[in-house]
Amino acid sequence: MANSDEDREFEDLLLMFKETRGFDFTGYKRSTLIRRVRRRMDARKLTSIGEYRDYLELEPDEFVRLFDSLLINVTGFFRDPPVWQSLRELVLPELLTARGGGRPLRIWSAGCATGEEPYTLAMVLAEAMGIEEFLGRAKIYATDLDEDALTVARTGAYSERQLTGVTEEQLAKYFEPTPGGPKYTFRRDLRRQVIFGRNDLTRDAPISRVDLLVARNTLMYFNAETQSNVIRKFHFALTDPGFLFLGKAEMLLNHSKLFEPVDLRKRLFRKLCARVRNQAPPVAGSAITAACEYPATHEVLDAAALAAAPVAQLVVDRLGRLAAANIRAESLFNLRARDLGSPFQDLEVSYRPVELRSVIEHVTTEQRPIELSDVEWHRTATGEPSYFDVSVVPLYRSSDEPVGVGISFADVTGHRQMRLELERANHGLKHAYEALQSLNEELETTNEELQTTNEELQSTNEELETMNEELQSTNDELQTVNDVLRLRSEELDASQAFLTSVLGGLGAAVIVVDHDLRIKIWDPGAEELWGIRAQEAIGKPADDLDIGLPMAEVMPLLRSTLTGGPERTETIIMGTNRRGRPVRMHVETSLLRNDKEAPDGALLTMNHLAEN
Ligand SMILES: C[S@@+](CC[C@H](N)C(=O)[O-])C[C@H]1O[C@@H](n2cnc3c(N)ncnc32)[C@H](O)[C@@H]1O
Repeated sequence: MANSDEDREFEDLLLMFKETRGFDFTGYKRSTLIRRVRRRMDARKLTSIGEYRDYLELEPDEFVRLFDSLLINVTGFFRDPPVWQSLRELVLPELLTARGGGRPLRIWSAGCATGEEPYTLAMVLAEAMGIEEFLGRAKIYATDLDEDALTVARTGAYSERQLTGVTEEQLAKYFEPTPGGPKYTFRRDLRRQVIFGRNDLTRDAPISRVDLLVARNTLMYFNAETQSNVIRKFHFALTDPGFLFLGKAEMLLNHSKLFEPVDLRKRLFRKLCARVRNQAPPVAGSAITAACEYPATHEVLDAAALAAAPVAQLVVDRLGRLAAANIRAESLFNLRARDLGSPFQDLEVSYRPVELRSVIEHVTTEQRPIELSDVEWHRTATGEPSYFDVSVVPLYRSSDEPVGVGISFADVTGHRQMRLELERANHGLKHAYEALQSLNEELETTNEELQTTNEELQSTNEELETMNEELQSTNDELQTVNDVLRLRSEELDASQAFLTSVLGGLGAAVIVVDHDLRIKIWDPGAEELWGIRAQEAIGKPADDLDIGLPMAEVMPLLRSTLTGGPERTETIIMGTNRRGRPVRMHVETSLLRNDKEAPDGALLTMNHLAEN
């Protein structure tokens, strides 16, 4: 269906199924539906959807055939055997332990088709639990959309061909020969634990409190959105622990929060429940209280503290003289005791490492501190520079009377170095972070691409699997046709043998010609009489026969019988038998008619008359 007109016609057709028949196929994969509808159209030799729609309205039986074809019912006992083994080994032990103490076990076979799957489940469970416990505790709910399939399922009767997956031992243990038929019926007592019902997975509410949900080869016919909705219903339907068993082409992409794999390859999953986690105890906060007690001011202590301070400090009095310098300042700026009392502007420190005279003036007039950061000082011509944070603050006596300025030089070389390194590292980290971020983005893109590819692969896989099932269903149909043909062929062989014996019993030579007077049947009596085998005679024009009977005399009789003359004629003709002896032959022609009573050839019987 390439063009949009056809697409629209197809969607209308689906709508009509929904409105008139209650079958909603809108959530199914279009590719499968289109292939199946095309197949029915080909069978009816119709080329457009419109024609097919008209045909459906005229021939309601076609709906049955179409829906049979759309709801592919391919199934089997123990379908994909290794998967059932995993169910036995990985799921049932846990389930039976969790559901111990005689509690009921509820199983749901969704999309059960003609019942092979739920009966397989019944056998597997009966093996695992023992028959008695199975009868006492297990219930298998088996549902499908297709009522016809359910009708077959309810009978529980299967032919030998359908029972292919069942071993001899299982057949003997779980089936009984069906009275008066070539089939086997599932054991009646176990059968009672299986409850069949119609359920449309796309529309109806799910069965509840299910321990094991088997939904194999059904989801793959739905589109992604419908699959998601159905999977959410399945999650809701399952208890905890609850297990989901899908078909080999089916996956739970994008549902990792709802289910986790038990065995991914076998498509066995466990329901994930949102558990309430134990709250981690809240982190205890730590409050730090610092109590600082300042010692009473004391001139000596002040002086000692100033002298020992790790930061170089100078005091310049109101008159601009160096009033004090601590040990660190003395050594840093090469100050001597004699420098105390000298005008500050005369000392090198007043302009090196930084011009301080104007700054001091500024602080004095403004009575506000000034901070100079990262002042660079090359103490020797070759050495590495040092860096200082210089702070110039106004000093006061206990009253607000200004007494001078204090200057401190904090060596921040190490700090600065560290800061620069940190900045560099930070820069590097930023780069690394950016690189990581872009790597992460690339990974995310790759991941998304992989996910898309994965989804595409998944849908290709599902598509292949559906095509496989379609082929299998065609195969099943062909097999049925084949069986019918074989039966017909056996019947024909029997009729032929019967006819031959009747003809032999007549003691006459019998020939049948078609409309064009060509030999159709040449019986053993004719072989015997004229010495020509059937293979040589069949297909030849009757008047080309080189036998001891003068065909020139026989042909007018045959023609007249075939062309509206008397339906029966007879005469006596002299001939020569295969041994060269003259024979008197009683020759009789009669008209043959087909099943519609139309003339369809002539019968020629030749009887050898005894000589008087
Ligand atoms: C291929 S069979 C699978 C049978 C079985 N589960 C197995 O794996 O052997 C798919 C079944 O799904 C059923 N089905 C299709 N659409 C359905 C729906 N919406 N609700 C329930 N069953 C549905 C069909 O009728 C068909 O019997």
